[in-house]
Amino acid sequence: MSSDQGSQRRAAEEDGWIPGLGERQPKPRQLGKALFAHTPDAFEEKGLEMPSERARKQAQMAAAEPRTEVQEEPIEALSASEDQALPIDSESAQNRLLIKNGKVVNDDEMIDTDVYIEDGIIKEMGRNLTIPGGSRIIDARGRYVMPGGIDTHTHMELEMMGAKAVDDFYQGTKAAIAGGTTMIMDFVIPAKGESLLEAYDKWRSLADEKVCCDYALHVAVTWWSDKVKEEMALLCKENGINSFKMFMAYKDVFMLEDSELYEVFETCRELGAVAQVHAENGSVIAENTRKLLAAGVTGPEGHALSRPEEVEEEAVHRAAMIAGQVKCPLYVVHVMSKSAADEVANARKKGLIVFGEPIAASLGTDGSHIKHDCWRHAAGHIMSPPIRSDSTTGQYLMEMLASGALHTTGSDNCTFNESQKALGKDDFSKIPNGVNGVEDRMSVVWEKGVHSGLMDPKRFVAVTSSNAAKIFNIYPRKGCIAVGSDADIVVWDPSKTRVISAKTHHHAVDFNIFEGMECHGVPEYVIVNGRVCVDEGDLKAVHGFGRFVPTPVNPPFVYQLVKDRDENLKEKPYVDGIPPSGNAMPVSEDHMVSATAHSLHKISLNTSHEQNGSEDHIVLAAGTHETPCSTPGDAHSRPLTKAGSRNLQDTTFSISSENPEDSTHRASIRVKNPPGGKSSGSFW
Ligand code: URP
Ligand code: ZN
Ligand code: ZN
Repeated sequence: MSSDQGSQRRAAEEDGWIPGLGERQPKPRQLGKALFAHTPDAFEEKGLEMPSERARKQAQMAAAEPRTEVQEEPIEALSASEDQALPIDSESAQNRLLIKNGKVVNDDEMIDTDVYIEDGIIKEMGRNLTIPGGSRIIDARGRYVMPGGIDTHTHMELEMMGAKAVDDFYQGTKAAIAGGTTMIMDFVIPAKGESLLEAYDKWRSLADEKVCCDYALHVAVTWWSDKVKEEMALLCKENGINSFKMFMAYKDVFMLEDSELYEVFETCRELGAVAQVHAENGSVIAENTRKLLAAGVTGPEGHALSRPEEVEEEAVHRAAMIAGQVKCPLYVVHVMSKSAADEVANARKKGLIVFGEPIAASLGTDGSHIKHDCWRHAAGHIMSPPIRSDSTTGQYLMEMLASGALHTTGSDNCTFNESQKALGKDDFSKIPNGVNGVEDRMSVVWEKGVHSGLMDPKRFVAVTSSNAAKIFNIYPRKGCIAVGSDADIVVWDPSKTRVISAKTHHHAVDFNIFEGMECHGVPEYVIVNGRVCVDEGDLKAVHGFGRFVPTPVNPPFVYQLVKDRDENLKEKPYVDGIPPSGNAMPVSEDHMVSATAHSLHKISLNTSHEQNGSEDHIVLAAGTHETPCSTPGDAHSRPLTKAGSRNLQDTTFSISSENPEDSTHRASIRVKNPPGGKSSGSFW
């Protein structure tokens, strides 16, 4: 082979293609080796049932009402009970779906390939797949086929400031799906003094029966005691929680003092959890509010005046500093201002492990609305931290998302109707805080990010789903289009447009902060766990179809960095008996993606590891139908096979070109250790 041919071949392979005879064939998708290297039992841990789950489910089943179908679709394929076998003839073709001719986008590559889905799982990818008769076929020519969005930040039916958010778990997840989001992460927020476990139970019982798509939970730590510390451990160990949010604002309601933050961060670090902060200086806000009200400033503009950018900036800086003292990774929720985003980036440059989450509101609109003549319009935009009046903020934050300085996008969806906002008619500090965004986040990021030319579709996927899945340790089950991943998919038509309006949105709320915004790109099909829930633009969400997704502790994409820093610090001397803190090694801006792009490991349908000298010896069992996702815990939640269990080997049809029964097809590859060490300890 000439060197020219060689480089063409390499380029083609990098492009996701194996140059072959005749027609180009897509290469099987490769996934981050590190995921398996760090957490070889990753999929075991991601079973749908944590230790306490089964008892909970059984109790719920006993009290369960029949599921309600929202629209026309029949529900016979939905099992109400994990232990109930479905009759053979109800295992209908709607469980089998082929998405053809689309461009599949992951955070590290785009390839033209078809995607075959069975029983809620991506079963096969490639061209010219042979599929069972009766499978539904969606033609995605000219469309992007992307992981469904993961909204990292919602507050469905949250009771706050004397009002209850009107988007409940049903309406809110229905709106999410309409916009191309297939998973939300909501916050359990206990009152000061309330048991975290009891609050968690409350949230689970509100959400489990209503959610139309999958969901996970973060838990807020709003007070501190030994009991809270013990409950944090239990939440991690038995209840599928790996992230805790601390408020630096809402003084006397949710706010923690610095010394408490220090202890909570330390506890997060011990547990392998992600610490999150609402970063605003609550004491300064309280003082400013008092002065403004005394001076007669009572309108919505007072809200923004009481909490200017530096109030957010200072809190991000302080949180990163405190987290650095105890070497705890930190995730800053709702980054609303340029200077707060700069603080995230600066912390990373200093070697602190900090992630930043702008939201649809900070990316898609600006604070000019808070001065609107119409009180309702102005109050409709009140949230904390405020949407900034600097109209270039959105673009700035989007550029930081594009560069990797910021990482995920949420919506902070927390919606209040006009009558609820009116609680603060005479006092801005009583206006319930919160705006919409769960439905429009994907459109806003596409419009302001991709359509405007700041990011490509791969980066769109990174910031709307993959990075969230990595940080919260549910990747590659979520945030990824690969064999074995959940079939949470959006088929996105970039050539269509829509105009956002409260008149047409699917929220319960009577207002939309993005009113009138024209968005290029429309979710034409949204597939939730294999079920078509937006069908050629028609919403067919199903009440209660979603499941709770546990988030296991020690996410490798977060805690490997911590480990690397620990190693690095070991080399540094104690000074005057004080251990070294922080780390001079900057956190690279693309570490989230490089972890997959640089990987050499093929996703395996059945992997096992053997240590072999200085190399990892990965054994692939090609052609078997058992996927890494098909843990026993999955079985209860999807339509069952005719044998009554979710065993993919029971499929009546083989789509593999190889004989699934033939163990002689086991292939093995050798993977060189990546630079910097053994693959079992590093994902670089
Ligand atoms: O204004 C907001 N952000 N409301 C929801 C609660 C919170 O602080 O995230
Ligand atoms: Zn907050
Ligand atoms: Zn929030």
